[in-house]
Amino acid sequence: MGSGDSKWIVLKFGGTSVASAENWKNIARVVEQRKSEGFSVCLVHSALSGISDCLEEIIAHAPKNNTGDLVQRVKERHLELGEALDVPTEELLADDFSELEHIVKGMELIGEASYRVQARLLAMGELMATKLGAAYLNRELGGAEWIDARSCIKTIAPKDANERSLILSAISNTDFDEPLEQKLHKAGDLVVTQGFIGSDAEDKTVVLGRGGSDVSAAYFAAKIGAERLEIWTDVPGLFSANPQNVPSARLLNHLSYEEAQEIATNGAEVLHPRSIMPARKHKIPIHVRCTQRPELSGTVISEEGADDEALVKTIAVRNNVILISMDSLGMWQQVGFLAEAFEVFRQYGLSIDLVSTSESNVTVSLDPGLNTHFHDIRSSFVEDLGAYCRVKVIESVSAVSLLGRRIRTILHQLGGAFEVFEEHKVYLVSQAANDLNFTFVVESEQADRLVRQLHDHVITQSGNQASFGLTWPELMEDKKKEGRDVSLWWREKQQQLIDIVEESGPCYVYDTDTLRTYGNLVKGIEPVDRSLYAIKANANPDVLKTFRELGFGFECVSIGEVNHVIELFPDIDRKDILFTPNFAPRTEYAEALELDVNLTLDNIYPLQQWPELFKGQELFLRIDPGHGHGHHKHVKTGGKHSKFGIPRFEIKEVAELVDELDLSIKGLHAHIGSGIKDPFSWKRTAVILHEVAKELGGVEILDLGGGFGIRENETQAHLDIQEVSNSLQKFKEAHPEYELWVEPGRFLVAVAGVLLASVTQLKGKGKVKYVGVDTGMNSFIRPALYGARHTIVNLTRLNEPNSQSVNIVGPICESGDKLGIDRLFPHSEEGDVVLVANTGAYGQVMSSNYNLRAPAKDIVI
Ligand code: LLP
Repeated sequence: MGSGDSKWIVLKFGGTSVASAENWKNIARVVEQRKSEGFSVCLVHSALSGISDCLEEIIAHAPKNNTGDLVQRVKERHLELGEALDVPTEELLADDFSELEHIVKGMELIGEASYRVQARLLAMGELMATKLGAAYLNRELGGAEWIDARSCIKTIAPKDANERSLILSAISNTDFDEPLEQKLHKAGDLVVTQGFIGSDAEDKTVVLGRGGSDVSAAYFAAKIGAERLEIWTDVPGLFSANPQNVPSARLLNHLSYEEAQEIATNGAEVLHPRSIMPARKHKIPIHVRCTQRPELSGTVISEEGADDEALVKTIAVRNNVILISMDSLGMWQQVGFLAEAFEVFRQYGLSIDLVSTSESNVTVSLDPGLNTHFHDIRSSFVEDLGAYCRVKVIESVSAVSLLGRRIRTILHQLGGAFEVFEEHKVYLVSQAANDLNFTFVVESEQADRLVRQLHDHVITQSGNQASFGLTWPELMEDKKKEGRDVSLWWREKQQQLIDIVEESGPCYVYDTDTLRTYGNLVKGIEPVDRSLYAIKANANPDVLKTFRELGFGFECVSIGEVNHVIELFPDIDRKDILFTPNFAPRTEYAEALELDVNLTLDNIYPLQQWPELFKGQELFLRIDPGHGHGHHKHVKTGGKHSKFGIPRFEIKEVAELVDELDLSIKGLHAHIGSGIKDPFSWKRTAVILHEVAKELGGVEILDLGGGFGIRENETQAHLDIQEVSNSLQKFKEAHPEYELWVEPGRFLVAVAGVLLASVTQLKGKGKVKYVGVDTGMNSFIRPALYGARHTIVNLTRLNEPNSQSVNIVGPICESGDKLGIDRLFPHSEEGDVVLVANTGAYGQVMSSNYNLRAPAKDIVI
């Protein structure tokens, strides 16, 4: 029972959910609603997304005295969110910040971090985040009481558990706990507490292991006898496959506890596997919901979910699985062999997942999540096990599982699906004794593709509709109906676009109105004083003219781009051009100085080797802030594995050269990567550039780079541009002495461009279907190069229902010439126009004449 007669409901919000002010508005609304339904609310939440990683990194680096900016980053993240929530963060978290520093100093001094100290440090993430959350809810709704979970979740010490798991992967019991229920009851009808942490019999801090916030929430629900446990996350529920990989994956409306357990255990990261048992024991329904979309009903896990029909509900994948293959040459059938071999696993605390046996070989798999210490003990483990058999460790494999009820009875129906294994090497097959799971272990590289194929065979084509809800794109489509989505401008210009292709053949079309819309969005970032357009994204003259009219300057990466801008706008103020070369030849720097454009150096080498060139000049310096970010490893441009920027350890040397050559460093620049959706990224860059500026002196401009991400397909999130603006505004208020510049490329042009092509031929290789179009990777290389997944539609048949899953391929002589893989598509015919959306950036500019096929041309409407 909750306060008075009301019943408890436990709401758990994950790291992404609690990391933005926008989400907190939704959280407050959900809490308010539950209270108005008569519930007392126990809100359990995680650390802000990324913070636990950061704290783990601190643990790894502290003994080497090498925590660098990590502590600072942790503090900044909380200050940023606190600012956005408008709560007095410095004051609220002052003690936590000093404790954080104190713990880290201790680790540095001693040169190691004991498990106890690690637990204390890791717990800080949750403690700090919940203080912000409670303060915000208190202001919005009143009556929110912050409670330290360590006084609620007491952990137990199972026999045989080692010290590490007792402290870093602790467990609690799941019985109803009346004193705890009363304690919360006294605190009121809205308590805010931490996931992940608890305390042991000595009252010392322990943690529940990665993902432990779900488990905490389930413990709370069990211990206080909650009516319902709601797990709020950043996805709309559990799906029949990971929608990022399989956009045709369907929402699972209802699951039994057993099914949910199996799905969670086998890689669905939405719900921690250990969170189900406590709820199941007390028959507490679990609802999995989406914080960003509170109106969606999500997935319900309950006893009622136990329908009896045999059905595969999910294709799951677990990556980084480790296989241990044991060859035993005759010993295998000897009594006791397995017992001896498995004893070695026990001694090393390794928990075995799948087992397969043959006459002379036993192969077992280890779940990486449960065996995180494997790499530390690998060599001695292999040596010890080697006493009984020949041991081989196979890594980079993935376990792909068909999960559902009574799988054994439907194996015969899956015959067709097994055709897909013709192309795949299978290491191990296992059918679970509980009849809920059929697993194949395959090479990791092949796993995603295998999942898509199996999903198509087993779920999309199963004909069973009742158990499955909408696909992710369909769920998002609903949202779009609420307002006009500018990214769908091409829907309204359907006929005009079809006419253009008929006349011109394959082409990129750019919509000027949409260019302006996005231009104005960037111009609307108030704290930014100057916006440059990074023309590498799209150098079409009309595109450049549009941005010139809106008052943009230009960022160029080659002298060719600089001259392109000058030819188009002969009267341009040369200081409206910023030239940011990387490993360019000396001649380009000389020419840029001659042309009098702003010049950025991103290496100390030119100053050391060609000092006469730069003497007395005014320059920008590109700094490597030490970390990169972006949609793919190829586009992360910070950190020591990236070739860009001057590392911070060279700044002293640079400062000496600046003096020696009488340079003036007018601006500092950083661009950490492309396709970034974290709205605080630019503010973080500003803070770092400010640090560097203090060392150099005289800096007037901080150019925070481009990298503003867009939503390439329906499964991706938008960048919250308002949050970008708010966070920069705070920086600006603290540092009005700087001009702030940005230089986006993609964000300005991507959505305004579409690639249009016509269907040439159709093909079906069994169930794998191909729709061929008259241009491919020669026009658009992003899918092949980065695995980019752009929305693709049959423009001729926009309103016809999707009836098949197809690969959309071009005419180029490469197997990688695919614009889209496994896309839901309507019946299509030769001559239909196919549209690849959001291709205005890094499309035409990266095209080639490969196979001597001219790429799509540019048309601006
Ligand atoms: N500034 C500098 C110094 C850059 O290197 C870049 C992009 C930008 C600005 C603009 O970044 P944007 O806002 O467009 O993300 N071909 C890749 C992107 C490579 C970006 C290279 N540098 C892609 O298609 O995703």
